[in-house]
Amino acid sequence: MCGIVGYAGKKEVIPVLIDGLRRLEYRGYDSAGVAISEKGKLITAKRKGKLEFLDSALNKTSFSGTVGIGHTRWATHGEPTIRNAHPHLDCRKEIALVHNGIIENYQQLRDALKKEGHKFVSKTDSEVIVHLIEKYYKSSLEKAVLSAIKRLKGSYAIAVICKNEPHRVVAARCGSPLIVGLGKEENFVASDVPAILTYTRNVIYLDDYEVAVLDEKKVTVKNIKGRLVEKKTEKIKWDINAAEKGGYPHFMLKEIEEQPQVIENIIHRRIDLKKRIFFDDINLSTKELKSIKKITIVACGSAWHAGLIGKYLIEKYAGVSVEVDFSSEYRYRSRIAGGRACLADKRELLIAVSQSGETADTLAAMKLARHKRIKILSICNVVGSTIVRESDGVIYTHAGPEIGVASTKAYLAQVSIFYLLAVHLAFIKRIIGRNTERRLVGEFMEMPALVQKIIKDTSLIEKCAEKYKGVNSFLYLGRNINYPTALEGALKLKEISYIHAEGCGAGEMKHGPIALVDEKLPSVCIAVKCDVYEKMMSNIQEIKARSGIVISVATERDREIAKYSDMVIYVPKVNEDLSCIITVVPLQILAYYMAVKRGCDVDKPRNLAKSVTVE
Ligand code: AGP
Repeated sequence: MCGIVGYAGKKEVIPVLIDGLRRLEYRGYDSAGVAISEKGKLITAKRKGKLEFLDSALNKTSFSGTVGIGHTRWATHGEPTIRNAHPHLDCRKEIALVHNGIIENYQQLRDALKKEGHKFVSKTDSEVIVHLIEKYYKSSLEKAVLSAIKRLKGSYAIAVICKNEPHRVVAARCGSPLIVGLGKEENFVASDVPAILTYTRNVIYLDDYEVAVLDEKKVTVKNIKGRLVEKKTEKIKWDINAAEKGGYPHFMLKEIEEQPQVIENIIHRRIDLKKRIFFDDINLSTKELKSIKKITIVACGSAWHAGLIGKYLIEKYAGVSVEVDFSSEYRYRSRIAGGRACLADKRELLIAVSQSGETADTLAAMKLARHKRIKILSICNVVGSTIVRESDGVIYTHAGPEIGVASTKAYLAQVSIFYLLAVHLAFIKRIIGRNTERRLVGEFMEMPALVQKIIKDTSLIEKCAEKYKGVNSFLYLGRNINYPTALEGALKLKEISYIHAEGCGAGEMKHGPIALVDEKLPSVCIAVKCDVYEKMMSNIQEIKARSGIVISVATERDREIAKYSDMVIYVPKVNEDLSCIITVVPLQILAYYMAVKRGCDVDKPRNLAKSVTVE
């Protein structure tokens, strides 16, 4: 997510802005910039890439001022470039703005402002805000901001400065976090606590539709109607390291708990008010999508598990044959390896799934597909990453930066995108009509609340971790669309707690894995109420008959399964095809607490990297 810092006080503002942005780096970014008021002028500096590029550029200048705003950009609309970096300026270069969030109606606003003569220089949604403020600016920046935000749809946290009011910063928020820091003869605004904790522990948390005006002496907060609002000052008790995780002990737990919001973001971006699905950057015409006869999905690790779920869903809903390959294995497929790679049927599509967009194996697989002139669509979480640039079209997961090495929210976002893509393809191929699309989309829109319900109370899962933290092997069993969930649960456990864990299709138990079962081996069985429930119950009874330990993930109020389980983790009842979104969350949480209780480095497990950029 983007990072915002603003300052009004007596200190030289540039070091304060750079220091604040540095403490927000954990949020992930691809460009940075500052704007300061200097002797009645507005000075801006922006750089692509790391913060030190901006810092060293500023060190070569004699810029000096005591009021300013800064920004680190996590690209959502528009590639990471200097033009798209914040701050953005109005036409007269007298107002500078930084923004975190998504303006959903930016296109209409941009068109209307262009008609009124405004000139745009970036491809971002954010730039419309500063031109709106310019449109409404008479003699009060606060009033202009109040008028402008009334026109915005979507989420925003903004900080604005103006040449004609050089001593103040105006800030506003809706849907994106923004805090005000209260210092001695200095005041701050920031996206998150770490940016200002060096200077003050006294903060005000702005609420939606509130506007703050700060100068070195005072801070006022008003609501969208322009009425003064009394705000409580909170005292931050975290130390600076904990604060980067927003008070969470680990990024992984923070990212697990962000999952309802991640799905909400996907709903905002991919589903319109009539519950119709749309993909803006897919770059494949309806005709091309309709003609697709074969899909190959390439990915690694968790992304590969999401690809397996994509296979179940796309084949079931859209009737398109799907193969799923480890990226690292794709190159050995006989039809490609050796000799001349024959050109593929143009109705074939390759889907590359990657959180980081930099995984070398997946890039190598894409190169082979390119060689065969297969169209490539990527499902990716990093705007402008290499995999995206090497693709014909992209569906961004918009999960925000995922810092923990173990993928959680990005995986859930990939699964969610596959669900919507499968329904979308089914509609385009006329296999389902609008009513069915609306029904399936409606069921998906319930997911944030259901995931939140699981996250809200993890006490039983923590008990389970405490009970089994000493074992040295686990089995994870699932069938059908929860077979990949079993694989993902096993990967989560092994990669952060270093306990050996094997995920397998429950139907495979009799073909080998059941030999492992004894009184020391826990088997996590995903047995929610669905078509394969009875078969899962048979697997559970076979394990119990051999004194195995059974930890079931089951549908709430299922009392029968408790008779055969040592522990039952209940999840809300959902449509079978969406159960994979619900059932993986307790497995993420179980792995997390197992790792914590074993004293492992949860966010940076041994031997692993967040992005495997070598083959
Ligand atoms: C998942 O928890 C692991 N961190 C790893 O398997 C990861 O999913 C894999 O390396 C793929 O990474 P990517 O999604 O960035 O391509």
